[in-house]
Amino acid sequence: MCGIIGYIGKKQALPILVNGLRRLEYRGYDSAGVAISDGKKVARVRAMGKIDELANKLKPMTISGTVGIAHTRWATHGGVSEDNAHPHAACTDDLVIVHNGIIENYRELKDKFLKGHELKSQTDTEILAHLIEIFYKGNLTEAVRAALKEVRGTYGLVAMHSAEPDKLVAARLGSPLVIGVGDDEYFLASDTSPMLAHTKEVVFLDDGEIAEITPAGFKISNLNSKSVDKVSSKIDWDEASAQKQGFPHFMLKEIFDQPAVFMDAIRGRYNLAEGTAHLGGLNMTIEQMHKIRRVILLACGTASYASLVGKYAMERLAGIPTEVDVASEFRYRDPIIDHHTLVFGISQSGETADTLAALREAKRKGAYVRGIVNVIGSTMARETDGGTYMHAGPELAVASTKAYTNMLAVLILYAIQFGRLNRLTEATGERLIAALLEIPEKMKEVLALNDGIKKIAMKYKDSAGMLFLGRGVNYPVALEGSHKLKEISYIHSEAYPAGEMKHGANALLGPNFPVLAIITKNQLYEKMRSNVEEVKARYSPLILVATVGDESVSELADDIIYVPPTMELLEPLLNTIALQLFAYHSAVALGRDVDRPRNLAKSVTVE
Ligand code: F6R
Repeated sequence: MCGIIGYIGKKQALPILVNGLRRLEYRGYDSAGVAISDGKKVARVRAMGKIDELANKLKPMTISGTVGIAHTRWATHGGVSEDNAHPHAACTDDLVIVHNGIIENYRELKDKFLKGHELKSQTDTEILAHLIEIFYKGNLTEAVRAALKEVRGTYGLVAMHSAEPDKLVAARLGSPLVIGVGDDEYFLASDTSPMLAHTKEVVFLDDGEIAEITPAGFKISNLNSKSVDKVSSKIDWDEASAQKQGFPHFMLKEIFDQPAVFMDAIRGRYNLAEGTAHLGGLNMTIEQMHKIRRVILLACGTASYASLVGKYAMERLAGIPTEVDVASEFRYRDPIIDHHTLVFGISQSGETADTLAALREAKRKGAYVRGIVNVIGSTMARETDGGTYMHAGPELAVASTKAYTNMLAVLILYAIQFGRLNRLTEATGERLIAALLEIPEKMKEVLALNDGIKKIAMKYKDSAGMLFLGRGVNYPVALEGSHKLKEISYIHSEAYPAGEMKHGANALLGPNFPVLAIITKNQLYEKMRSNVEEVKARYSPLILVATVGDESVSELADDIIYVPPTMELLEPLLNTIALQLFAYHSAVALGRDVDRPRNLAKSVTVE
């Protein structure tokens, strides 16, 4: 969703801000803008469309200054237009702001405070700019503080005033903001990606905090003017890992990252000899772990499909009843939770509004609440009472790939850890861990199928719709494969547990309706085979994901993707990669904007 970058220091702000905007592109946006102070006045330039449009507009202009703010906007209030793009100004360009989030009471604020103010956009943000202007008496920090006391809603905002050219004021409530600490220079951003090229030292603002930043340093306080001490953190992601590294798209690069980053998720967290895992971030004693009677996994989208695999693992290895709840449903359902319930939030960004709200609800009801998160220092990482980083590195394509496999890695390790407290034997634990350690090499074997999978994708790219089938642990794989395909290729697809077909979906089958079925060699193989034969009998073209060496399925398939064998619970770690590649090549063949599919954002910070 919307992205913010701000700079204050000794260098020219414009190139830093425009490059920063490019690093924020992955979040999804429809317009962008920049405002720079030269010490006397503020220059503000905005454009609809891509950052290149903005850059082209800026090219003939001479804009200098060492302080500035910039923004990528994803329309919420008001359509996509230059007037609605950020930075927004109050009555004049002397006071400008960029803002992520939603001001819920913007109509009330307008009626109560903005008499005589002329509005030029349809945004809630512009109303906030005018409100700050109303409270401005020569001190921007105090004006922001006073204005925010009137506001209901969420914000990550940065403000700048021409009368105080050496100051940026930032505030956060419900929408992330990070300060990057450089040498005599500071950055402000909605996530760390635009500042990785400049600094790895960051300070995360918490809800209710206001930061005043000058080239000499920063001061943080709360809405009641009480000062807050913060310590900085080091981000270990490097700039190179946030580049395409020769791949045509971030998504393909991230698919190919999987063997390496999978090891980052499990390294140091298993004990092969004892057949167990140890995730220290759980922050629970053995006694507390023994008392857990139920696990709930809360997530959205791809993370919820990873969680379904986690449910299989936790129930099978640890015998603990495990539920997966889509966070947007859970939060409004008055869920039943007690002190023996362990709740995990699973999220790449750690900023998904619904998942955060669901976790807060679980916490209020007395559950143990933990996070499985990718983005270091994200809200979920900080709000939960423990948990585990999945260490997938920066994931910039909107469609999640490597974070998904690392979610599986961490969930499986948790299942092993809990399993070893009760019914999982050392021998089975050891077999599982040994099999996990073989996964990166096997992932490489699946990645080597890239060209073949591309050919298959080309063949089916014009299908009006597709069905994905799986059973057992491969049903969530089918869900994720279908989700990937629809997100980036816009081909309609559905996923079904194969045994459920005859209760309805069989009616769809026929020569124009391809089916992709996962029929790897596991305990449900024979059952799956009967389901696939039924599909074949109804003339749907069949793409099968099968185990290397299983020649017997070739008589059923129109196309086959052979993946290496592994233990059943680990199959999703390999099978999903084949489906990621299928979705990727389908989208490329159809000329889609693979890394930034329409109407989707990487980090969904609003409900
Ligand atoms: C799918 C996708 C989304 C996210 C969902 C949750 O490829 O990217 O479905 O999985 O929005 O996001 P996180 O994991 O950041 O909570």
